Amino acid sequence: MGRLSTVALMLCLMAAAVKGEDPYLYFTWNVTYGTIAPLGVTQQGILINGQFPGPEINSTSNNNVVINVFNYLDEPLLFTWSGVQQRKNSWQDGTLGTQCPIAPGTNYTYHFQVKDQIGSYFYYPTTGMHRAVGGFGGLRIFSRLLIPVPYADPADEYWVLLGDWFGKTHQTLKQFLDSGRSLGRPSGVHINGANAGLEPLYTMEPGKTYKFRICNVGLKEALNFRIQNHPMKLVEMEGSHVVQNTYDSLDVHVGQCFSVLVTADQQPRDYFMVASTRFTKHVLTATRVIRYTNGVGPASPQLPPAPEGWAWSLNQFRSFRWNLTASAARPNPQGSYHYGQINITRTIKLVNSFSRAGGKLRYGLNGVSHVDPDTPLKLAEYFGVADQVFKYNLIGDQPPPTLRDLVVAPNVLNATFRDYIEIILENPTKVFPKSWAAIMLTFDNAGMWCLRSELAENRYLGQQLYISVLSPERSLRDEYSLPDNQLLCGIVKDLPKPPPYKGVVCVFLASNLLAYIKREASPLLPSMPQQPRVGDVFSRGGELPWLPCDRQSLGWPNKVVGFDRAFITKSD
Ligand SMILES: *[C@@H]1O[C@H](CO)[C@@H](O)[C@H](O)[C@H]1NC(C)=O
Ligand SMILES: *[C@@H]1O[C@H](CO)[C@@H](O)[C@H](O)[C@H]1NC(C)=O
Ligand SMILES: *[C@@H]1O[C@H](CO)[C@@H](O)[C@H](O)[C@H]1NC(C)=O
Ligand SMILES: *[C@@H]1O[C@H](CO)[C@@H](O)[C@H](O)[C@H]1NC(C)=O
Ligand SMILES: *[C@@H]1O[C@H](CO)[C@@H](O)[C@H](O)[C@H]1NC(C)=O
Ligand SMILES: *[C@@H]1O[C@H](CO)[C@@H](O)[C@H](O)[C@H]1NC(C)=O
Repeated sequence: MGRLSTVALMLCLMAAAVKGEDPYLYFTWNVTYGTIAPLGVTQQGILINGQFPGPEINSTSNNNVVINVFNYLDEPLLFTWSGVQQRKNSWQDGTLGTQCPIAPGTNYTYHFQVKDQIGSYFYYPTTGMHRAVGGFGGLRIFSRLLIPVPYADPADEYWVLLGDWFGKTHQTLKQFLDSGRSLGRPSGVHINGANAGLEPLYTMEPGKTYKFRICNVGLKEALNFRIQNHPMKLVEMEGSHVVQNTYDSLDVHVGQCFSVLVTADQQPRDYFMVASTRFTKHVLTATRVIRYTNGVGPASPQLPPAPEGWAWSLNQFRSFRWNLTASAARPNPQGSYHYGQINITRTIKLVNSFSRAGGKLRYGLNGVSHVDPDTPLKLAEYFGVADQVFKYNLIGDQPPPTLRDLVVAPNVLNATFRDYIEIILENPTKVFPKSWAAIMLTFDNAGMWCLRSELAENRYLGQQLYISVLSPERSLRDEYSLPDNQLLCGIVKDLPKPPPYKGVVCVFLASNLLAYIKREASPLLPSMPQQPRVGDVFSRGGELPWLPCDRQSLGWPNKVVGFDRAFITKSD
């Protein structure tokens, strides 16, 4: 067994334990109204720390991100971190189905981990029509240093946030939708909050290669993005490394992000970046300038033309392929999981429809048009009062025979933890008209998850639903407990908090130290591995042995939530 020194049995481990956790990044955001002019005309916008677009967040895989948001608007506010998987943590997903909004004049601190992810994402406000006037910004997740990235480090990297722009206040746009009208056509397009100008947005040194992270943060229109004389090598999308094809232009659908590499290998001068609407009768265009540091001369007024038609776009989409041998956030290649062999346990077919009953426009999925109740669905479920707030499974897994009418109600499906479910979307989100797409989801992340249209009008008027994935264990292995600072509202406001989830908790101290902790006899314990890897295990009473936790036991909770007793052993 070797010599062992039993270091401690104590609760004050907490402080030391933090060192072993993944690094923390702290942000304070003051969210205010301010004057902006993305189309050259001033209007009211939403700023974060005075900035529009909002500040970028730079994180690295597994970082803990803590953002204290102060709401200085006169309306409730929430942010979502689009694309962040929020493992075990739908508490921080920032939609009205999971969180109470931050009341005007108050603050709330988001805390989430960008666990096992890389890539380019953006955050945005989900309340009202706030996103129409700002509050969005880029969110990077860099690879950890030890994970190889399948291209050389760029000289620098730049955000390119594209979007359509409606030129009205968010209150006006919300009134349109609340009164049953459509948003209509946008009045322009912007790139990083402006639609023209000859001053450079970014500069490039000749011969160097830059990474551009391009996202469509708009409400409605797909946009084509291109840079004069500069092809783009696509390297990442949706958090995965892709086969590195080169494109003259990219169709960027609402909500989508791409990372591309661009080499400054042309004559030194200015060049236009161009974003223009696709599939619209009247094409709206924005341009911004990139300058070579040794540049002489302005950009040519001859803008590269946009492609035409749906077929081009569909073909481009089909050309996107995962690089199966590259590693993403983890050292193992992205392709090492054999998706083809998975047995699908359930298929849900969702069909989009709309109705103008009573002169009011609504959108729905399988005949139900979602509305957010005053009590967030997740909280109602957690506090055991779901039946007072919503009914599960108003819609079936197949659409009803007729979709003429829409029922307006919270739209919540429930799913079994760890099932593989295929969802077939007929003509809704991001899918080309008159076509369908199938996606497969593993419900290995317990929580309440929003499946929504990326189109703001459709989403606001009901084209979204929630999928509740409950782990039968009520265990910390599967889901974090309600955060202490979680805002409560609606009927759960004054209810006593349910007991926190139980589970075994690992505390990491230093590489050669292991903590063996047993919080309580959870039903999970027998299913956990029982081989100590370093050091030894002391068992004091209790019918179950103490369990080892180490850095290799991936997938185990590593958040300190308190525990009864701990033995720490060190191997000499
Ligand atoms: C946010 O506002 C507070 C109060 O006005 C101020 O003290 C603080 O410096 C601001 N923080 C940032 C990051 O702008
Ligand atoms: C984020 O990372 C990029 C790329 O390294 C860098 O250019 C930028 O300055 C960073 N931003 C902040 C706020 O740290
Ligand atoms: C509000 O901000 C203060 C710091 O100014 C912080 O101590 C508190 O936890 C925040 N409130 C919430 C609900 O996150
Ligand atoms: C895929 O990634 C691997 C590993 O980084 C790299 O060697 C290879 O060139 C990439 N393949 C393509 C087609 O991009
Ligand atoms: C899928 O089901 C088949 C037949 O029951 C079985 O042989 C196979 O192992 C299953 N695959 C997985 C990944 O569970
Ligand atoms: C959905 O919830 C109902 C009611 O709680 C339950 O009977 C059913 O088993 C659940 N279905 C799934 C797939 O979890």
